[in-house]
Amino acid sequence: MKKLDVVLGLQWGDEGKGKIVDVLTPRYDVVARFQGGPNAGHSIYFSDKSFVLHTVPSGIFRKEAQNIIGNGVVIDPIILMEEIHAIEQMGVDVRAHLLISKRAHLILPTHRMLDAASEKAKGQKKVGTTGKGIGPAYTDKIARNGLRVGDLLREDFMERYQSLLMQHKAQLGISEPIDDSEWLYAAEQMKSFCIVDNEVVVNQWLREDKTILAEGAQGSLLDVDFGSYPFVTSSNTLCAGACTGLGVAPAHIGNVYGIFKAYCTRVGAGPFPTELFDKTGETLRRIGHEYGATTGRPRRCGWLDLVALRYTVMMNAATSLIMMKSDVLDEFDTIKVCVAYKTKEGKQIDFFPFDADDEGIQPVYKEFKGWKTDITSCRSYEELPEELKQYIQFIEEYTGVKIELVSVGPNRDETILR
Ligand code: GDP
Ligand code: IMO
Ligand code: MG
Repeated sequence: MKKLDVVLGLQWGDEGKGKIVDVLTPRYDVVARFQGGPNAGHSIYFSDKSFVLHTVPSGIFRKEAQNIIGNGVVIDPIILMEEIHAIEQMGVDVRAHLLISKRAHLILPTHRMLDAASEKAKGQKKVGTTGKGIGPAYTDKIARNGLRVGDLLREDFMERYQSLLMQHKAQLGISEPIDDSEWLYAAEQMKSFCIVDNEVVVNQWLREDKTILAEGAQGSLLDVDFGSYPFVTSSNTLCAGACTGLGVAPAHIGNVYGIFKAYCTRVGAGPFPTELFDKTGETLRRIGHEYGATTGRPRRCGWLDLVALRYTVMMNAATSLIMMKSDVLDEFDTIKVCVAYKTKEGKQIDFFPFDADDEGIQPVYKEFKGWKTDITSCRSYEELPEELKQYIQFIEEYTGVKIELVSVGPNRDETILR
């Protein structure tokens, strides 16, 4: 029986998962999303065109692959249908290559409103969510109130939908009708897609020796249990989420590809020990085009945090590492990496503390000489400058895991496999 491989982000999201899933898909029969929802924005760049996927797995542009949205995902029908239509415009037969779980929860129009209301109530302490209704949709799931894709096919769907909408409106303190015609239209369209018991389908594929790649969304430091709570998303972004989000037992997990940027970014609020507030941070943002793929917000930028990276490598038992956006560091004279934190009391620690914000931690840096060379045309590890190889070697030694792939640009072919 085949094992299922997982690709996931080891930082605060936007590591480049979309590109890597697209690059790896030719080796797989199936690509599966297991958590998150339209808060994700996974960019794929080919034939001089870029495309951002939110709910559809990033294997959709490779003709041979089947794609499946697992039970752990939350789906906004409007966003899903808009995305499907845009992909169809590019000549892809989405209907033939996409399965949707019956058990995936639906994001209702009122979930978005509840998301906004919750952020407003938090004021200065807001999470800085993507505003897509993610938290409230997962809240309803855990509170056993949610509606699932399979419910769309039931005769009493409208009754159940109206009842949940009424509950939400009471929470929001609104009595006037809301315009949900677009949502209901999109939900109706979704019914014509292939809606399946994903746990049965995925386990059957594994028995048939089909190769499956599970695509994580967000990043490990946004995990609801192990991220910088409460500044996290509302799902388990770690490898363990692939089991619960697809219905696959832990014994069936194979390789875990952990993706990280050669530096760090974060969108939204919360601790970020290596964040740069100076010109260097601005330079990283400018060269790396660090603006959110979903919300367009400028991303906070900083040096690579190896303390945090080693933690997420551990939490995922990553079997190989993938380093993205190495080219963004091409112009820097000096490159820093954080190898420890100093607490307010001057104590040096090498783990991510429970109260990272309150601890007022300061990064302890190791400096590297920049390579000052354009690496975007390099296609083999041997061609890379010596200084970059030293940077790579240090990260491997610190984390204990080999960097098997180095990305030197957004394009499919700007990729070095070792
Ligand atoms: P995801 O959410 O993890 O899929 O990442 P995003 O798509 O939100 O953000 C990654 C951004 O970096 C996208 O705009 C990609 O096109 C771009 N990108 C990916 N890999 C590289 C790389 O190696 N170099 C550069 N310069 N850009 C990259
Ligand atoms: P991809 O898959 C980066 C962040 C938000 C906010 C927090 C909670 O593209 O890497 P939510 O809307 O999930 O309730 O917001 O999580 N966030 C992301 N940051 N990349 C993402 O997805 C993200 N999805 C959510 O900015 O801080
Ligand atoms: Mg993204």
